[in-house]
Amino acid sequence: MDIILLGPPGAGKGTQAQRLVEHHGMRQLSTGDMLRETRKADTELGRKVAGIMDSGGLVSDEIVSAMIDAKLSDMGPEVGAIFDGYPRTAAQADQLDEILAKHGRQLDHVIELEVDEDALVERITGRFTCAKCGEGYHDVFKQPKQEGVCDKCGSTEFKRRPDDNEETVRTRMQEYRGKTAPILPGYEARNIVTRVDGMASIEDVTHAIDAILAG
Ligand code: AP5
Repeated sequence: MDIILLGPPGAGKGTQAQRLVEHHGMRQLSTGDMLRETRKADTELGRKVAGIMDSGGLVSDEIVSAMIDAKLSDMGPEVGAIFDGYPRTAAQADQLDEILAKHGRQLDHVIELEVDEDALVERITGRFTCAKCGEGYHDVFKQPKQEGVCDKCGSTEFKRRPDDNEETVRTRMQEYRGKTAPILPGYEARNIVTRVDGMASIEDVTHAIDAILAG
Protein backbone atom coordinates (compact mmCIF):
# COMPACT_ATOMS: atom_id res chain seq x y z
CA MET A 1 0.00 0.00 0.00
CA ASP A 2 1.36 3.42 -0.98
CA ILE A 3 0.07 6.52 0.79
CA ILE A 4 0.65 10.26 0.95
CA LEU A 5 0.54 12.08 4.29
CA LEU A 6 -0.46 15.62 3.46
CA GLY A 7 -0.66 18.62 5.76
CA PRO A 8 1.03 21.91 6.60
CA PRO A 9 4.32 22.14 8.50
CA GLY A 10 3.89 20.69 11.99
CA ALA A 11 0.69 18.80 11.13
CA GLY A 12 2.27 15.58 12.37
CA LYS A 13 3.30 13.92 9.10
CA GLY A 14 6.72 12.83 10.34
CA THR A 15 5.37 11.70 13.72
CA GLN A 16 2.71 9.52 12.13
CA ALA A 17 5.04 8.21 9.41
CA GLN A 18 7.45 6.94 12.09
CA ARG A 19 4.57 5.11 13.77
CA LEU A 20 3.42 3.56 10.49
CA VAL A 21 6.94 2.30 9.92
CA GLU A 22 6.95 0.69 13.39
CA HIS A 23 3.43 -0.76 13.24
CA HIS A 24 3.12 -1.78 9.60
CA GLY A 25 6.66 -2.21 8.29
CA MET A 26 6.11 0.50 5.70
CA ARG A 27 8.93 2.80 4.55
CA GLN A 28 8.95 6.53 5.20
CA LEU A 29 10.04 8.59 2.20
CA SER A 30 10.50 12.08 3.61
CA THR A 31 11.90 14.58 1.11
CA GLY A 32 12.64 16.89 4.06
CA ASP A 33 14.88 14.22 5.64
CA MET A 34 16.54 13.50 2.28
CA LEU A 35 17.25 17.22 1.77
CA ARG A 36 18.64 17.52 5.31
CA GLU A 37 21.13 14.79 4.35
CA THR A 38 21.97 16.65 1.12
CA ARG A 39 22.60 19.94 2.93
CA LYS A 40 25.15 18.31 5.25
CA ALA A 41 27.51 17.90 2.30
CA ASP A 42 29.91 20.76 1.61
CA THR A 43 28.93 20.93 -2.06
CA GLU A 44 27.32 23.55 -4.28
CA LEU A 45 24.05 21.58 -4.17
CA GLY A 46 24.24 21.20 -0.38
CA ARG A 47 24.71 24.95 0.10
CA LYS A 48 21.91 25.78 -2.35
CA VAL A 49 19.49 23.40 -0.62
CA ALA A 50 20.42 24.79 2.83
CA GLY A 51 19.70 28.37 1.68
CA ILE A 52 16.28 27.43 0.31
CA MET A 53 15.28 25.37 3.36
CA ASP A 54 16.35 28.07 5.81
CA SER A 55 14.21 30.61 3.94
CA GLY A 56 11.15 28.34 4.05
CA GLY A 57 10.92 28.14 0.25
CA LEU A 58 10.65 24.99 -1.86
CA VAL A 59 13.52 23.10 -3.46
CA SER A 60 13.11 22.43 -7.21
CA ASP A 61 10.61 19.81 -8.32
CA GLU A 62 13.23 17.99 -10.39
CA ILE A 63 15.59 17.52 -7.44
CA VAL A 64 12.99 16.12 -5.04
CA SER A 65 11.26 13.91 -7.63
CA ALA A 66 14.63 12.42 -8.64
CA MET A 67 15.24 11.59 -4.96
CA ILE A 68 11.88 9.81 -4.67
CA ASP A 69 12.48 7.90 -7.91
CA ALA A 70 15.86 6.70 -6.63
CA LYS A 71 14.41 5.56 -3.28
CA LEU A 72 11.60 3.61 -4.96
CA SER A 73 14.15 1.88 -7.18
CA ASP A 74 15.61 0.33 -4.00
CA MET A 75 12.26 -0.88 -2.66
CA GLY A 76 10.52 -4.16 -3.35
CA PRO A 77 6.83 -4.02 -4.35
CA GLU A 78 5.82 -5.69 -1.07
CA VAL A 79 6.99 -2.71 1.02
CA GLY A 80 4.46 0.11 1.24
CA ALA A 81 5.68 3.69 0.79
CA ILE A 82 4.66 6.64 2.96
CA PHE A 83 5.23 9.87 1.08
CA ASP A 84 5.92 12.45 3.79
CA GLY A 85 6.25 16.05 2.59
CA TYR A 86 5.99 15.02 -1.06
CA PRO A 87 4.38 15.91 -3.43
CA ARG A 88 4.22 19.61 -2.60
CA THR A 89 3.38 21.17 -5.99
CA ALA A 90 1.17 20.27 -8.98
CA ALA A 91 4.30 19.39 -10.97
CA GLN A 92 5.49 17.01 -8.22
CA ALA A 93 2.04 15.37 -8.11
CA ASP A 94 2.28 14.70 -11.86
CA GLN A 95 5.86 13.47 -11.50
CA LEU A 96 4.83 11.12 -8.69
CA ASP A 97 2.15 9.54 -10.91
CA GLU A 98 4.79 8.94 -13.60
CA ILE A 99 7.32 7.56 -11.11
CA LEU A 100 4.78 5.19 -9.52
CA ALA A 101 3.67 3.92 -12.94
CA LYS A 102 7.30 3.32 -13.90
CA HIS A 103 7.78 1.21 -10.76
CA GLY A 104 4.47 -0.64 -11.22
CA ARG A 105 2.94 0.94 -8.11
CA GLN A 106 -0.16 2.98 -7.38
CA LEU A 107 -1.43 5.40 -4.77
CA ASP A 108 -3.97 3.91 -2.39
CA HIS A 109 -4.66 6.78 -0.01
CA VAL A 110 -4.00 10.48 0.45
CA ILE A 111 -4.44 11.21 4.15
CA GLU A 112 -4.87 14.88 4.92
CA LEU A 113 -4.04 15.92 8.48
CA GLU A 114 -6.35 18.83 9.25
CA VAL A 115 -4.93 21.23 11.79
CA ASP A 116 -5.54 24.59 13.32
CA GLU A 117 -2.83 26.85 11.90
CA ASP A 118 -2.46 28.79 15.16
CA ALA A 119 -1.26 25.61 16.91
CA LEU A 120 1.41 24.88 14.32
CA VAL A 121 3.89 27.53 15.33
CA GLU A 122 3.81 26.21 18.92
CA ARG A 123 4.24 22.64 17.69
CA ILE A 124 7.17 23.49 15.45
CA THR A 125 9.07 25.81 17.74
CA GLY A 126 8.83 23.18 20.54
CA ARG A 127 10.05 20.31 18.39
CA PHE A 128 13.38 18.50 18.91
CA THR A 129 14.75 15.12 17.89
CA CYS A 130 17.25 12.60 19.15
CA ALA A 131 20.59 13.34 17.47
CA LYS A 132 21.38 9.64 17.30
CA CYS A 133 18.20 7.79 16.21
CA GLY A 134 15.99 10.68 15.02
CA GLU A 135 13.08 9.96 17.39
CA GLY A 136 10.85 13.05 17.51
CA TYR A 137 9.91 14.92 20.71
CA HIS A 138 8.21 18.12 21.82
CA ASP A 139 8.86 20.44 24.76
CA VAL A 140 5.20 20.16 25.84
CA PHE A 141 3.39 17.44 23.86
CA LYS A 142 5.92 14.61 23.83
CA GLN A 143 8.75 14.78 26.33
CA PRO A 144 11.16 11.90 26.84
CA LYS A 145 10.01 9.67 29.73
CA GLN A 146 13.29 10.37 31.52
CA GLU A 147 14.36 13.97 31.10
CA GLY A 148 17.28 14.35 28.70
CA VAL A 149 17.37 10.68 27.67
CA CYS A 150 15.95 9.34 24.39
CA ASP A 151 13.18 6.74 25.04
CA LYS A 152 14.20 4.78 22.00
CA CYS A 153 18.01 4.57 22.04
CA GLY A 154 19.12 6.07 25.39
CA SER A 155 21.16 8.85 23.79
CA THR A 156 21.46 12.13 25.67
CA GLU A 157 22.12 14.25 22.57
CA PHE A 158 19.21 16.13 20.99
CA LYS A 159 18.96 18.65 18.16
CA ARG A 160 16.63 21.30 16.76
CA ARG A 161 16.11 22.20 13.09
CA PRO A 162 17.47 25.57 11.88
CA ASP A 163 14.21 26.20 9.96
CA ASP A 164 12.04 25.71 13.07
CA ASN A 165 11.73 29.38 13.91
CA GLU A 166 8.56 31.44 13.74
CA GLU A 167 9.53 33.55 10.71
CA THR A 168 10.49 30.56 8.53
CA VAL A 169 7.44 28.61 9.69
CA ARG A 170 5.17 31.43 8.44
CA THR A 171 6.81 31.26 4.99
CA ARG A 172 6.49 27.46 4.96
CA MET A 173 2.78 27.82 5.74
CA GLN A 174 2.34 30.29 2.88
CA GLU A 175 4.08 27.86 0.53
CA TYR A 176 1.72 25.12 1.73
CA ARG A 177 -1.39 27.24 1.17
CA GLY A 178 -0.27 28.55 -2.22
CA LYS A 179 1.40 25.52 -3.79
CA THR A 180 0.55 22.33 -1.90
CA ALA A 181 -3.11 22.63 -0.86
CA PRO A 182 -4.14 23.16 -4.51
CA ILE A 183 -3.07 19.58 -5.39
CA LEU A 184 -5.82 18.13 -3.16
CA PRO A 185 -8.76 18.53 -5.59
CA GLY A 186 -6.95 16.36 -8.15
CA TYR A 187 -6.72 13.53 -5.59
CA GLU A 188 -10.31 14.16 -4.44
CA ALA A 189 -11.45 13.60 -8.01
CA ARG A 190 -9.82 10.17 -7.77
CA ASN A 191 -11.69 9.42 -4.51
CA ILE A 192 -8.56 8.62 -2.55
CA VAL A 193 -8.55 11.47 0.00
CA THR A 194 -9.48 10.94 3.65
CA ARG A 195 -9.30 13.69 6.25
CA VAL A 196 -8.09 13.08 9.75
CA ASP A 197 -8.33 15.46 12.71
CA GLY A 198 -4.68 16.33 13.23
CA MET A 199 -5.51 18.27 16.40
CA ALA A 200 -6.38 15.04 18.22
CA SER A 201 -3.73 13.36 20.37
CA ILE A 202 -0.83 11.63 18.60
CA GLU A 203 -2.32 8.27 19.65
CA ASP A 204 -5.80 9.09 18.34
CA VAL A 205 -4.42 10.29 15.00
CA THR A 206 -2.58 6.97 14.67
CA HIS A 207 -5.82 5.05 15.38
CA ALA A 208 -7.65 7.07 12.73
CA ILE A 209 -4.92 6.36 10.15
CA ASP A 210 -4.86 2.67 11.08
CA ALA A 211 -8.63 2.52 10.48
CA ILE A 212 -8.18 4.03 7.01
CA LEU A 213 -5.45 1.54 6.10
CA ALA A 214 -7.55 -1.36 7.39
CA GLY A 215 -10.19 -0.27 4.86
P1 AP5 B 1 9.86 19.04 5.83
O1 AP5 B 1 10.93 18.42 6.61
O2 AP5 B 1 8.97 18.17 4.99
O3 AP5 B 1 8.99 19.95 6.79
P2 AP5 B 1 7.43 20.30 6.83
O4 AP5 B 1 6.56 19.85 5.75
O5 AP5 B 1 7.46 21.78 7.05
O6 AP5 B 1 6.89 19.47 7.95
P3 AP5 B 1 7.48 19.30 9.34
O7 AP5 B 1 8.55 18.27 9.37
O8 AP5 B 1 7.85 20.66 9.90
O9 AP5 B 1 6.19 18.85 10.13
P4 AP5 B 1 5.47 17.46 10.30
O10 AP5 B 1 4.10 17.55 9.69
O11 AP5 B 1 6.32 16.32 9.88
O12 AP5 B 1 5.28 17.51 11.88
P5 AP5 B 1 5.94 16.60 13.04
O13 AP5 B 1 5.39 15.22 12.94
O14 AP5 B 1 7.42 16.77 13.09
O15 AP5 B 1 10.46 20.14 4.84
C1 AP5 B 1 11.42 21.08 5.27
C2 AP5 B 1 11.88 21.91 4.08
O16 AP5 B 1 12.48 21.06 3.08
C3 AP5 B 1 10.77 22.65 3.32
O17 AP5 B 1 10.46 23.89 3.92
C4 AP5 B 1 11.40 22.80 1.93
O18 AP5 B 1 12.35 23.83 1.90
C5 AP5 B 1 12.14 21.48 1.75
N1 AP5 B 1 11.32 20.41 1.13
C6 AP5 B 1 10.93 19.25 1.71
N2 AP5 B 1 10.19 18.51 0.85
C7 AP5 B 1 10.11 19.24 -0.29
C8 AP5 B 1 9.44 19.01 -1.53
N3 AP5 B 1 8.71 17.92 -1.76
N4 AP5 B 1 9.56 19.97 -2.48
C9 AP5 B 1 10.29 21.09 -2.28
N5 AP5 B 1 10.93 21.36 -1.13
C10 AP5 B 1 10.83 20.45 -0.14
O19 AP5 B 1 5.27 17.31 14.32
C11 AP5 B 1 5.69 18.59 14.74
C12 AP5 B 1 5.76 18.64 16.28
O20 AP5 B 1 4.45 18.50 16.81
C13 AP5 B 1 6.59 17.49 16.89
O21 AP5 B 1 7.34 17.98 17.97
C14 AP5 B 1 5.55 16.46 17.38
O22 AP5 B 1 5.99 15.79 18.54
C15 AP5 B 1 4.35 17.35 17.67
N6 AP5 B 1 3.09 16.68 17.31
C16 AP5 B 1 2.85 15.90 16.22
N7 AP5 B 1 1.57 15.46 16.22
C17 AP5 B 1 0.99 15.99 17.34
C18 AP5 B 1 -0.33 15.92 17.90
N8 AP5 B 1 -1.30 15.19 17.31
N9 AP5 B 1 -0.57 16.58 19.05
C19 AP5 B 1 0.43 17.31 19.67
N10 AP5 B 1 1.70 17.42 19.19
C20 AP5 B 1 1.97 16.76 18.03
